[in-house]
Amino acid sequence: MAGIYIHIPFCRKKCYYCDFFKSTDLSQKARLLAGLKLELESRVSEYCSEEINTIYFGGGTPSVLLINELKDLLNVIKSNYRVNEDAEITLEANPDDLTLTNLLTLKQIGFNRLSMGVQSFSETDLKLMNRRHSALQAIQSVKWAKEAGFSNISIDLIYGLPNQNMEEWEQNVRIAVELDVQHISAYNLTYHEGTVFYEQLKKGILKELPDELNLQQFELLIRILKEAGFEHYEISNFCKPGLYSQHNSSYWKSRKYLGIGPSAHSYDLQSRSWNVSSISKYLHGLENDEPYSETEILTEQDRYNDYIITGIRTIWGVSEDFVQSEFSSKYFAHFQKSREKYLQSGHLSCTSGKVSLSTEGLFISDQITTDFMVVE
Ligand SMILES: C[S@@+](CC[C@H](N)C(=O)[O-])C[C@H]1O[C@@H](n2cnc3c(N)ncnc32)[C@H](O)[C@@H]1O
Ligand code: SF4
Repeated sequence: MAGIYIHIPFCRKKCYYCDFFKSTDLSQKARLLAGLKLELESRVSEYCSEEINTIYFGGGTPSVLLINELKDLLNVIKSNYRVNEDAEITLEANPDDLTLTNLLTLKQIGFNRLSMGVQSFSETDLKLMNRRHSALQAIQSVKWAKEAGFSNISIDLIYGLPNQNMEEWEQNVRIAVELDVQHISAYNLTYHEGTVFYEQLKKGILKELPDELNLQQFELLIRILKEAGFEHYEISNFCKPGLYSQHNSSYWKSRKYLGIGPSAHSYDLQSRSWNVSSISKYLHGLENDEPYSETEILTEQDRYNDYIITGIRTIWGVSEDFVQSEFSSKYFAHFQKSREKYLQSGHLSCTSGKVSLSTEGLFISDQITTDFMVVE
């Protein structure tokens, strides 16, 4: 059971908050696509015994590719890897790239899940973030996606935006609910170094929202989505019953995944590797049979910390039995000590040996995760 992630490193315009690896120079697109195919073909041996259950085109903006370019990449994957016929195949798409016609074709060529970057339904927020689409365009593209037959649609929202008050945030969440999508990812805004937002914050042009308001927005989100029948299955992810993102759930459940493209990460249970975050270096490496990635063999400490970080924020939690059987006694002892402290304070819950964050725990998740980690 494994997943394939393909990173499409192009965007039409850079959003001011975003530090994902991307370029607005599309002149290398054809060469990059050839590179992605080469990487897919050259890494088949790593995954020949694996069944591929999820394929995820992320970015950047995969929807900048033409239908035929996406179709070619899907064909390369399907003809080289053992793809389960019910595999979840997701396309990250920006609303401004979507029309009813291209949505119908995306469905036809095999995509069965869409993850749409909406971020906010307020025109003021969208302008501030330097998004290319309007709120109406986002709403229209969700409606078209449904009309085209997509029954697994996710939208991304960001809260804690500069000047965002509770009423505006509530309005965003309520519109998302009304759109009747199957999945919502809602992220708290992070000011990443190197982004325009970060610079504007440093210059005092933007002001961070107070922690308390961020928390209130998070609480409101959880309340409204739960009332609307969503399962809160990971700290930032909500879905209609059972409709988890299978691809992202594999990351959180520590399953194998193959990451293709510049900046993409891979994980094979024993090691993780990451491709260089540069289109030219990536292509140079691939075309000349030279290295374009780095690999790190995971130590027991890395594996334990990764298991905690990824698992504790999900409803599946971390398993006491697994920690006891997979890691040496010092890790289990540390795990038990941290667990006791937060079980007593009510920030963790434990059901059938699975430890996860309680609702109160969700609000101090960083502190709890840090306490659980072993750093030597
Ligand atoms: C790979 S990105 C964007 C996908 C797609 N290109 C788009 O813009 O719609 C995935 C998501 O991460 C979230 N994100 C990116 N930067 C963020 C930040 N600084 N703080 C919070 N969320 C962020 C956004 O919600 C975004 O849709
Ligand atoms: S949020 Fe999406 S469209 Fe905006 S810069 Fe990041 S990857 Fe590109």
